[in-house]
Amino acid sequence: MTSTHSTEKNSADSTHIDVVHIVACDRNHCIGKDNQLAWHLPADLQHFKTLTTGGVIVMGRKTFDSLGRLLPKRSHHVITRDTTWQADGVKVAHSLADAIAHAKVDAAARGLSEIFIIGGGEIYAQSLALADRLEITRVDLSVDGDAFYPADLSDFVLTWQSDTQSDEKSGVQFYFTTYTRQNDKSAQNSQGATKTAQGMNA
Ligand SMILES: NC(=O)c1ccc[n+]([C@@H]2O[C@H](COP(=O)([O-])OP(=O)(O)OC[C@H]3O[C@@H](n4cnc5c(N)ncnc54)[C@H](OP(=O)(O)O)[C@@H]3O)[C@@H](O)[C@H]2O)c1
Repeated sequence: MTSTHSTEKNSADSTHIDVVHIVACDRNHCIGKDNQLAWHLPADLQHFKTLTTGGVIVMGRKTFDSLGRLLPKRSHHVITRDTTWQADGVKVAHSLADAIAHAKVDAAARGLSEIFIIGGGEIYAQSLALADRLEITRVDLSVDGDAFYPADLSDFVLTWQSDTQSDEKSGVQFYFTTYTRQNDKSAQNSQGATKTAQGMNA
């Protein structure tokens, strides 16, 4: 499949900032266990770093806790209902709508054209309807986890897919995908250039 994979970061217009999910999921949409990732895939961490460095990232408070630190060269927005919660170097919001609004203003001020929602399960589920693009790493594992990515991606089309790769150490296979919100299903289908996403194993 040909690539429409875009990492362009410096072409913001003030009218639209894309909302991008970035996530790694197993075969059953699992994304984590006990507030941690359930696998260690350096190539996926590098992929995450490549896409998000220099950018604006939005996350739930539990994901921030699981990171345990600020990620270098990224502007952090954390969502919590706890009005007393704060952390150095973090912009706090008490609703998803506020977090996204603040992050978009932040991105526009930096000349960026997108913001990244980096998890976790609660925040992905609440914000899927607002997402323009999904950067999903598909991990060929079935993990007994407790945090999940939404299964229904029927509003999106698969617009890019990498070759399958194997982690050198564990042998775990994975590949990268990009899904783009489909605004006109009939146009997409008649072109035949994109594939409707049926689920995580599409
Ligand atoms: N595989 C991946 O790509 C990936 C990426 C990110 C995270 N993860 C995994 O996902 C798991 C964490 O996900 P999670 O679903 O448990 O937690 P989460 O989405 O990271 O954070 C949930 C927290 O966000 C706050 N929150 C949620 N909705 C809110 C709203 N509408 N308004 C205000 N605050 C709101 C609440 O914080 P308070 O409790 O403070 O009020 C809530 O407890 C971990 O296992 C992590 O490793 C995986």
